[in-house]
Amino acid sequence: MTISKSIENAFNEQINAELFSSYLYLSMSAYFSANNLTGFASWFTIQAQEEVEHAMKMYKFVLERGGKITLKTINAPKADFKNTLEIVEEAYKHELLVTSLITKLYETSLSEKDYASANFLKWFIDEQVEEEANTSQLVEWVKMTEGKASTLMMVDHQMSKRAKD
Ligand code: FEO
Repeated sequence: MTISKSIENAFNEQINAELFSSYLYLSMSAYFSANNLTGFASWFTIQAQEEVEHAMKMYKFVLERGGKITLKTINAPKADFKNTLEIVEEAYKHELLVTSLITKLYETSLSEKDYASANFLKWFIDEQVEEEANTSQLVEWVKMTEGKASTLMMVDHQMSKRAKD
């Protein structure tokens, strides 16, 4: 069964959302690099790369199903941030948004009886559990520092341990 036009369009939108996520995390990473938080910078760069991988998984799936890829404009992400807490809170909020987009796409697939798409999206549903947990943990860690630079440096060191999966 080939992919329907509405599902094809929804996937193209989601590819755009994943690429925007990558852009957003790269912008956050740049803030950390500029502020000597190299562990945070590295974590967010790896996260940005993961988002491109998410987009590419969908890109390949659409093509495999005989669909058409239509790449859309990627909006500019925020470039100015107040502090570390603001960034990690925004990252968590952003992942909640992505979860809601994936859920909607999954529901659309089911309503169209496109079980291949629904099955494919299960990986993303599981991934979002991890994405939310990771960014929520960052918020908790940064809150625990209570703005103390020395404690933030310890968190930064912990962040530097993230390796690319
Ligand atoms: Fe691709 Fe962070 O969701």
